[in-house]
Amino acid sequence: MDRRSVKLAPSILAADFAHLGAQVEELARAGADRIHVDVMDGHFVPNISMGAPIVRSLRKLTALPLEIHFMISDPDFFLDEFVEAGSDSFLVHGEGNNNLHRTLQRIKASSKRAGVVINPATPASVLEEVLPQIDQVLVMTVDPGFGGQHFLNVTMPKVRRVRKMIDALNPACELELDGGVNLETAPFGVAAGADVLVAGTAVFADNQGVTAAMNKLRCCLEPAA
Ligand code: DX5
Ligand code: ZN
Repeated sequence: MDRRSVKLAPSILAADFAHLGAQVEELARAGADRIHVDVMDGHFVPNISMGAPIVRSLRKLTALPLEIHFMISDPDFFLDEFVEAGSDSFLVHGEGNNNLHRTLQRIKASSKRAGVVINPATPASVLEEVLPQIDQVLVMTVDPGFGGQHFLNVTMPKVRRVRKMIDALNPACELELDGGVNLETAPFGVAAGADVLVAGTAVFADNQGVTAAMNKLRCCLEPAA
């Protein structure tokens, strides 16, 4: 994988919501490739976050793709509302969804990009049957629900396995990592095969600001001279 082509997807879960619009505009200037929106319902994960109104507001403000990470028990119920709000892609968990194929079909029928997310304890093999029909795989490198957790190195062998599955079954599919990505861990994730990195705390909690944080993340992925 050419490290320079790695895409960065800042997660606004860690943003300062009083200044969300300004921070997203700054991220666009700083070269963010997409905005990652974590949607939690307090059931699928033990936390609540944001809903479609945030997406609707951001849609008016930015041309960056808005990527929705659904951590909710019933993604099918909320899909249309988020489509209408202006979302560009949907990442849905394999866990707890008895009708994952149908959910993916509904996303594609809305002409949106579809991705499947797997938690740290979920085996890569669950992707096999859906890989040909999806645009992204998101491997969680923390247990979902909260920002600011430690990157789980134990997930790296699985990331390498998913890379091989994607190369064999659907090379156009993106491999994205989410959770604990920072200057130290990002190079490991990319070496294991990731081509998109989500980062919340590493982008928004940097005391030099989000532009500096984005630059540092890009730098840590550049090959050594
Ligand atoms: C966790 C979310 C992540 C989170 C990442 O459940 O899916 O997207 O915002 O935050 P950091 O980068 O702080 O681990
Ligand atoms: Zn996420």
